[in-house]
This record gives sequence, structure tokens and C-alpha cells, in this order.
Amino acid sequence: MALARRTALGILGAGLFGGALLGRGRPGAEPGLVTMEFDAAPHRVSLLGREVPMWLYGGRFPGPAIELAEGETLRLAFGNRLPHPTNLHFHGMHIPPTGSADNIYIQIPPGERFTYEFTAGPGTAGTYWYHPHCHELVARQMWYGLSGPILVRGPLDAMPELAAADDRLLVLRDIAFEGERLAGYTVNDWHKGKEGDYLLVNGAYQPEWRMRAGSARLRLINVANARHLRLALSDRRPLFLIALDGQFLERPVDLEEILLAPAQRAEILVPFEDGRPIELLARHYNRGAPTPRLRNRFLLRMLPPPGTRPLPLPDRLAEIPKLDPTRARVQRRFDLSMFLINGRRYRYGRADVRARLGELELWRVRNFGTMDHPFHLHTWPFQIRRHNRRPPAFRAWRDTVHLRPGDEVELLVPLRDFPGRTLFHCHIAEHGDRGMMGTIEVTANDAPLAPPPPPICFAPGGDRMPRLP
Ligand code: C2O
Ligand code: CU
Ligand code: CU
Repeated sequence: MALARRTALGILGAGLFGGALLGRGRPGAEPGLVTMEFDAAPHRVSLLGREVPMWLYGGRFPGPAIELAEGETLRLAFGNRLPHPTNLHFHGMHIPPTGSADNIYIQIPPGERFTYEFTAGPGTAGTYWYHPHCHELVARQMWYGLSGPILVRGPLDAMPELAAADDRLLVLRDIAFEGERLAGYTVNDWHKGKEGDYLLVNGAYQPEWRMRAGSARLRLINVANARHLRLALSDRRPLFLIALDGQFLERPVDLEEILLAPAQRAEILVPFEDGRPIELLARHYNRGAPTPRLRNRFLLRMLPPPGTRPLPLPDRLAEIPKLDPTRARVQRRFDLSMFLINGRRYRYGRADVRARLGELELWRVRNFGTMDHPFHLHTWPFQIRRHNRRPPAFRAWRDTVHLRPGDEVELLVPLRDFPGRTLFHCHIAEHGDRGMMGTIEVTANDAPLAPPPPPICFAPGGDRMPRLP
């Protein structure tokens, strides 16, 4: 296939957010370098007729889109103007968990700045997101508005079936209000995870988009703290899944609906066959915890351009290597129960897993709880070998796997490229903050890692957004 990356870049660019949002950094003086600058700071946001105080990246809700091409380096000058310590995590990206890359041990006190820098490697094209990872503050900071999308483009995006589609980022989350403010936390929220009764797309309630091509490529990102999204199209139209958790599948898979647990992403192609508007719907989903009923009848309405014809579906996408489970010499087990992994609550800096760089490991994760738990590993994408003893219907790279109560998944985890210390955890943000998380240390030579810096997160509680000091 001929590659014409620059063409693909030209077709993308403006309007990825339905015209609402763009945060592309100007390319720096050095080729291949993309520079951006934004702060986390309090702002007021107009939402459903209210002026709501929130915490935002770059004054935008959701945060500015980080857009990179494979091989490009991001240099992001980040400032903390919040009354909490905070930091950034680049969710799902296969980049070092150390230095100034995806290092969650960087903790930025109020009033200070830090410059993150990393390179999107070959084969990383896809949809990711960023959010804070300051322990015990993650859930509230996300609920208050801190998250944003990341898009990495690669050679596959230039294939005509994809390049001509109307490519859109959809940052999905729920929200709830108490009068003019965001709803505060209750004890129950800490148990089941905080949910709201309105679902927003890129910070907008039930937007209508005029589409620009005969097919849409929707990059769906669930940035909600706890809301599981069971997504479908109106009129029971099929959706064509082309990527999961950032990475392309081998070929499109045609589905009636898709379940996106918190932190998961999916890319779907939506052909506009008959010129009729198409709505994106969220069906009710029971995750083993009482869930506030949504007020939305739909999330988004897409109006196809007149007289357009859908693009053909691509028949091949990425090549996904089949991992050989007999090569996995290290097997581990991760038993999930309420706020615990293997019976333990997270302790900062304690190595729960010590592993060797370059190993392929087999992880058996089981959910002994009564609620769904999305299990997430930083830095090293994995493949699901079996879910409840059955092989998955198609191969995919994942970074977050969703487990219903009683579920058991077997994951093949290649610990490749990047040594360091990082985390695995439940991605219901409140569960992570309550300690449903562990530390993995990956080294090339079994030498112990230097201890992490003293923690400055773990800030005092508070059920409501603190006012500025
Ligand atoms: Cu979205 Cu520790 O991750
Ligand atoms: Cu992550
Ligand atoms: Cu959980």
C-alpha cells in the first residue's frame, strides 16, 4: 500500500472536535518536535444553562487534543494552578514510565511547572487520553474536569477507506450538578464510583454534527470515572469496529453495540447509507452497582452531507502478532475484590510485581467482587488470551480489560522496550484512589530500582471542589 501520510494529515487537522476544540501545538524549530503548553486551572464552564466551576486543562473542557504522528516527539510544558498537587498520565501509550515521559512519580505541587517529553513510537497510531495520576486525588480531579484526548497518526491512516472518512474525536463522560456546581462526593460514590445523569460528547450535551463525508470515523474515549457505556447506533444499524484501546484491529468487525468500560477506547466506522441522520445511543447497562438513570435520549446526532455515498470498508487493517502462550514462563494471578488486588491495598512504592524486561507473561485476572471492574496496566499493552476460558472472537491489543463479577481473563503481557516502575489498577477512578492498585517493577537485570520520591499527593479529603487558596 502506498503511504501518503501528509495527505492524511491534511484531511484531518481542523474540525476533529466538531469545530469546537483544537489544541495542536505549533511544530517547534526542530523537525519532528511538537510543542504544547497548557496549565491545569479552575475555570467556569457553560453547561446546560449553568456556569459551572470546574478544573480544566488549557481552559478547555475536555482538555486540548494532543495530536502526534508516529515518530514525533511531544514537548509539553505543563503548569499546575490548582490547589492540589497533580501530574499527567498518558493513558495507554507505549512510552517509558520513567524520566519526563509517562512517569506517575512526577508530582507537581500547586504553583509549579513541569515539562513532559516523549516520542510516539512506530506502530502506536491510535486514540489515547491523558488524565491526572496523583494518588487519592485522581477521581476528584477527573470528576472536576481534568482529562483530554491524544491522537497518534500513522501510515494506516492514509488508506483511502480511512483517509476520506470524517475523522472525529469523541470524549465521552457523564456529569451531575447540584444547583450551579458539580455534584459533590458522597460516601456511596467512593464505594461504587461516581456517576452523573447527563452524558456529554466533547463537553456538549446532545450536539448535532453536520458530517463532511459519506462515512464517519468516530474515535470514542470513555473518560468517565465509573460510567460504563453501552453504545449503539439508532435504527439498529451495525457499527464497524476498527480499533480498540488505541490500536487497530486486523480487519473491521461488525457489531450491534459495544461496551466501553471507563478508560477504554474504540474506533468505529459509520457509513451514511440512506442520507438519514444517525444517532449515537447509550443503552442501559447494569454494572452490579446502582447507576443513576441517564437523561439523554441520545449522545450525538450526525447529519450526513446530502448526496453522499458511504466509503467502502477497509478489508485489512493492522497485522497483530499471535503471542505464543507456551513462551510465557512467568504466570501470575490477580484476584480483584472490593478495593483490593490479591488481598492487598495499594501502598506507595511497594513492589507488588517484580518482572524482567523482555519477558512474555501470562496474567490470570479474576473478579471476586459483585461489581464490574476494568483492570488496566500502564506502559505495556497486552492481548486477551481467554475470557472465561473462551478465546476472544478477534485479536486485539488492549490496555484495559473489563471484568464482570465472576469473570476470569487470561492476558498475554509482553513486557517490552521500557523498564521501570509503574502501576496496574482498577480504572473505576474511585476504586483506584481507594487502593485497588498495585506497583510493577520491570528491570533488565533484577537489580532493585531506586525508591520513588516521597509522595506529595494523598492530599486531605473534601467532598467538594476546593476554592482557590
Ligand atoms: Cu488511565 Cu493508571 O490510568
Ligand atoms: Cu493508564
Ligand atoms: Cu473497581
